[in-house]
Amino acid sequence: MTSSITQNTIPLTQLDAVAKPIGQAVGMPGTAYTSEALFHFERDQLLGLTWSGLAFASEVAANGSLAPVDFMGLPLIVTRDLNGHINVFHNVCSHRGMTLVKEANPLARGIRCPYHSWYYDLSGSLKSTPSIGGVRINEVAGFSCENNGLKRVRCHVWMGIVFINLSGDAPDFTDFITPLENRWSQFSGAGFLDELHVPEQGALIEIDVQCNWKLAVENYCESYHLPSVHPTLNTYSPLDQHYNIVAAENMSGQGSYVYNLSDIAGTELPRFPHWPEEKMSHAEYISLYPNVLLGLQPDHVFAMIVQPQAPGQSVEKLQLYYIGAQSLDESYGGCRSAVLKSWQQVFSEDIFAVEGMQNARRSSGFTGGVFSPVMDVSSHHFHQWLAQCYKTGTVRL
Ligand code: FES
Ligand SMILES: [Fe+2]
Repeated sequence: MTSSITQNTIPLTQLDAVAKPIGQAVGMPGTAYTSEALFHFERDQLLGLTWSGLAFASEVAANGSLAPVDFMGLPLIVTRDLNGHINVFHNVCSHRGMTLVKEANPLARGIRCPYHSWYYDLSGSLKSTPSIGGVRINEVAGFSCENNGLKRVRCHVWMGIVFINLSGDAPDFTDFITPLENRWSQFSGAGFLDELHVPEQGALIEIDVQCNWKLAVENYCESYHLPSVHPTLNTYSPLDQHYNIVAAENMSGQGSYVYNLSDIAGTELPRFPHWPEEKMSHAEYISLYPNVLLGLQPDHVFAMIVQPQAPGQSVEKLQLYYIGAQSLDESYGGCRSAVLKSWQQVFSEDIFAVEGMQNARRSSGFTGGVFSPVMDVSSHHFHQWLAQCYKTGTVRL
């Protein structure tokens, strides 16, 4: 489907210019980062058509827990029902459309609407409708609870990330994730997800950034900014030891040949058992479009969900994973917090860059910018993908 919003706001010729080979291409224009209309267009026609990161499963760690999440202005609820199954629903009562949940609740067990007290279980079934047929008459002819449960949003949990497909008709999640799993199996072996462990405490941080979600993704794609933005990181993982990654249509990023972070942090965390010895200093950093940023190292993994809040505002949620159950031992506590602190530092250093870009997206002097044909290959790949999504209103895998 082609959106009239797109054509009215970003001329097709401009999108064609983004899609050109890197040496002649421009980037997405400023309006894509500042327009409220395009923000909603992106929710429904870009992030909503594919698999987008919504939340971490660890945010609803206990059976019977729930958390409200705003998805680009759309109120949703993530639940872990009493069977431990994760669900995503619209945060809206089937009766008169009241917002059901305002705060996370680890002990919820169910959802009672605050307006007229209809009650749902965490699998979305409507269980009771007090006084629907008159005072103390909880049933009424012609009304069935079965047809009035919560409205479900398609979801899939992978690597502890709750992905949603808002439109409900994206290709299977397996198609979406297989290119990444295939790529990373060369390092971590097949079934690497089984090795990952998340500590109950101190593995999740949030960073508020005053920028459009696309700038956070684009910035993560490239290592070009390393020497100027991350001088400390650059001392042990210098720019000339990085390579571009364009792994599939829906992912790009960069890799390092000299990963050594754990040594810097004075740590020796357990490593992936099947990681090849000759690649022990390799690490890869991949943007999984649209909004999940992943980092793979021999001794830990991280995932960041970029949650778009408004055209110029995002929340970055970062979770760390360690390798093997033993890595959660108390004896590794210091190592784990050193690693988390290092990444917190790196991502904090990026804030001024993404916010600086956001600020300049309002400038009439900005017409999309250009790309280094060598250093910006991965970010240009992201822009090409964006332009294609904008042009067709359909997201390609
Ligand atoms: S709006 Fe929820 S019970 Fe009436
Ligand atoms: Fe950075």
